[in-house]
Parts: sequence; C-alpha cells; structure tokens
Amino acid sequence: MHRMIIEGGQPLNGDVRVSGAKNAALPLFAAGLLGDGPLLLDNVPDLKDIHTMAAVLRHMGALAEVTDGRAEIDPRPVNNPTAPYEMVKTMRASALVLGPLVARHGRARVSLPGGCAIGERPINLHLKALEAMGAQISLEQGYVTAVAPKGGLKGADFFFDTPTVTGTENIMMAATLARGRTVLRNAAMEPEVTDTARALTTMGADIRGAGTETVTIEGRGSLRGGRHRIMADRIETGTFMVAAAITGGRVRIIDGPQGCLGALEKKLEEAGARIEANDQFVLVTGPDRILSADARTRPYPGFPTDMQAQFMALMTVGSGLSVIQETIFENRFMHVGELKRMGADVRLDGNTAIISGVEHLSGAPVMATDLRASASLILAGLAARGQTEISRVYHLDRGYERIEEKLLGLGARVRRIRE
Ligand code: EPU
Repeated sequence: MHRMIIEGGQPLNGDVRVSGAKNAALPLFAAGLLGDGPLLLDNVPDLKDIHTMAAVLRHMGALAEVTDGRAEIDPRPVNNPTAPYEMVKTMRASALVLGPLVARHGRARVSLPGGCAIGERPINLHLKALEAMGAQISLEQGYVTAVAPKGGLKGADFFFDTPTVTGTENIMMAATLARGRTVLRNAAMEPEVTDTARALTTMGADIRGAGTETVTIEGRGSLRGGRHRIMADRIETGTFMVAAAITGGRVRIIDGPQGCLGALEKKLEEAGARIEANDQFVLVTGPDRILSADARTRPYPGFPTDMQAQFMALMTVGSGLSVIQETIFENRFMHVGELKRMGADVRLDGNTAIISGVEHLSGAPVMATDLRASASLILAGLAARGQTEISRVYHLDRGYERIEEKLLGLGARVRRIRE
C-alpha cells in the first residue's frame, strides 16, 4: 500500500496542466457500447477508475484499449451484457453500462452497487426511468436484470425526483436507441452530462437540451462509432486552485475546462484569492491570510460536492468562522476527523460543519477515506507545518492523474512511499 509524505509550508508556484475528466470519461466508455463501430476517445486520463471501466467492458466481450491518453472501444464483439459484483463493488460508476446494454442488446445484468464511504447512493431513479421506458427490472442475488420489451425500449417522459448525474447520463444513453422521443426533466446539468451528449451526437444521436434541466432525445434505429476529445477535469482544476490559495502561492492552471467553475471561483475570491481566467489558463494567487467564507453544496451550477472537502481544508486556516453545508451526500464528512488530527477546529452538526479557522495546521499521520477526502488531506498537508503522512492513497489514484508529479512541478515537497 502506498503512502504520501508531504513537508508542508511551501507556497506552490508555476504551471500545471489539467488532465481529462474522470467523470466524463466514465460515461463515455459506456457510450462506446452503443454504436455499430468503434468509439475513439482522446484526452483519456490514466486513472484506476478508467482501467476498471475498460475491464468491465472487456468482461462483456468488447475491445477496450487505453494507451497514451487514447482509448478505443469496439462494442461489436459484446456477447455477455453483464457487469459482475467483483468489478462494480470497486467502482459504482460501472452501473453506467446498464442503460447502453439494455438499449443495444435488449438485456443487461449488472450487480447492484452497495453503499460507499460518502453515502448510500442508490440507483433507484436509473431503474425507475428504465421501467418508464418499458424495461422489466428484477433484482436477484444482488444483481439487477433489465429486459427491454419486444421491439426495444420506448421513449418516455420522465421526471427525476432529484437530479442525478450518472442517472441522467445512463438514461440519456439508453434513450438514443429507444423508439420515439424521451424527455428527461429535472435532469442533472453538470458539464460531464453535456460532454457525454456531445460525443453521442458525433455517433449520430439526436439530443437537445443537455446541460439544461430538460433533455430531449429522439431515438434512432442505430448509432455509428465516433471520435471525441474528453473535456478537462473541473474538479482537478478546482483542487489546484485551492492548492494555490491554501499555500499562498501563485499557480497557472493550463488547459482546464471553460467557464464551469463559477461557484468555486466566487468562493475562492471571498476567501481572498485573486483569480484571472481566460481561454488558455486560470491563474490563482493566494492571499496572505485566508478569509473565512461559507459554502453549501448544490447540483451544478451550484458549489460542487466534489470540492467540499478541499474547500473545508482551506477554511481550517481561515480568519474566522465558516459554515459548510453538504446537501448532496449524507456522509461526506469523513475528512473532518482527519483534519482535526492536524489541528483543525471543526464541529459537525448533521450535514453542517462549523469551522473555526486556526493560525496553522500541523503535520500528522492521517488516513485517506475516499477520493475527495484524500485531496483535502493533501491540501491540508501542503499548508501544514511539518510532515504529514497520508496512508491509503489508492483512493487518490482513482481520480487524480500523476498527482505527486504535478505537485512536485509546482515546488511541493512530496514523495510517495511504495511498500
Ligand atoms: N440519488 C438517488 N437515487 C438515484 C441516484 C441518485 O436518490 O437513483 C441521489 C444520491 O444519493 C445523491 C444525489 O441523488 O444524494 C446525487 O447523486 P448523483 O446520482 O448525482 O451522484 P452520482 O451520479 O452517483 C456523480 C459523480 C460523483 C459526484 C456526484 C455529484 C460520477 C462517476 N460520479 O455521482 O463523483 O460526487 O455525481 O456531483 O460522475 C467523485 O468524483 O469523487 C464523485 C463521487
């Protein structure tokens, strides 16, 4: 198991390049199952979750190769539309194959994802929407089986009780091959949904309104293969923005996504950071003293839950009181106990964290519990006095490509211990 050692107190300076977005790449791999030919993807990040997704596709018989930032998915040999427990349990986003499989092959058998470190995370809305499209859903031995009606899925008018990112993607993909029109209401508006729709369009799908709360899909008899460049990772971008702010450094983040970090930028400005953004880069200059600010996670375009832990790390060294409310996941405060070990003053009350900023954090051995919690510990370690040792960094490798290399390039004192 790997550990990360950080000597804190070094302001980060310089340029860093953002990788392709994990949460866009994952639905796009699943989208590769829909066509009659291969889907080529560029800007594919080299991450554990991506390799797991490729393995899920190969398990079904598809060809799924990932090399040097490119992926080719050829769905033609698929002969086993199943996602097994061993794979789904390590990555719940495997459930994204459900919609494409049932749409393309009339049948899918996918292990029902269990809860995870950040919450229960049901997929009931994915299943309800497929049912509305005529699929028969049954649950046996931990597996969901979805069977399309004779003649295939049919278009439906479906309202999501709560906006769900992978739910919207799953059903949008299924609808591209359904008979007639599907209208998804209260859909998730995250940029990764829009990126998925863009790729599907190059494959011949007819989708309108992706990125708004109503997405309309006219089903097609078939889709072809295609080629698509995956959008840049907005959460990686945001994490480096906080890294600049928390260390009082100056970081130019290159090739990030365009115009989708407004809510975070506003909060970082409230915290005293200076931000200059254009179509090539975002330049973040950290303040001398971080000002405390409140935040409340919301679906896009609100403040992202995937940035909550990192923003909390910043607020632990704020000038006063900060109130952070997590409204998306019920258990996404696992980093709090670890930040406290570093001297943070945080009180939890249900889904609210009340943070009293301290002058400085001090390095300590801490444990990563999930992807974004790990990122918050790295940020805290960068700002802390002394040495921080983070164990279980495999969580980090699920979502941050070459993280220590990128941090080293910005002058951080960080190293990985492999044992
Ligand atoms: N929900 C339901 N029923 C459903 C689906 C969702 O009640 O059928 C609830 C969830 O429990 C949650 C809320 O709806 O309270 C929103 O969850 P959503 O479905 O949007 O989350 P997700 O699609 O499972 C994606 C990202 C997460 C990110 C969330 C929220 C991917 C692969 N994952 O998850 O990313 O936190 O959207 O933005 O896109 C991460 O990258 O670290 C990560 C966890």
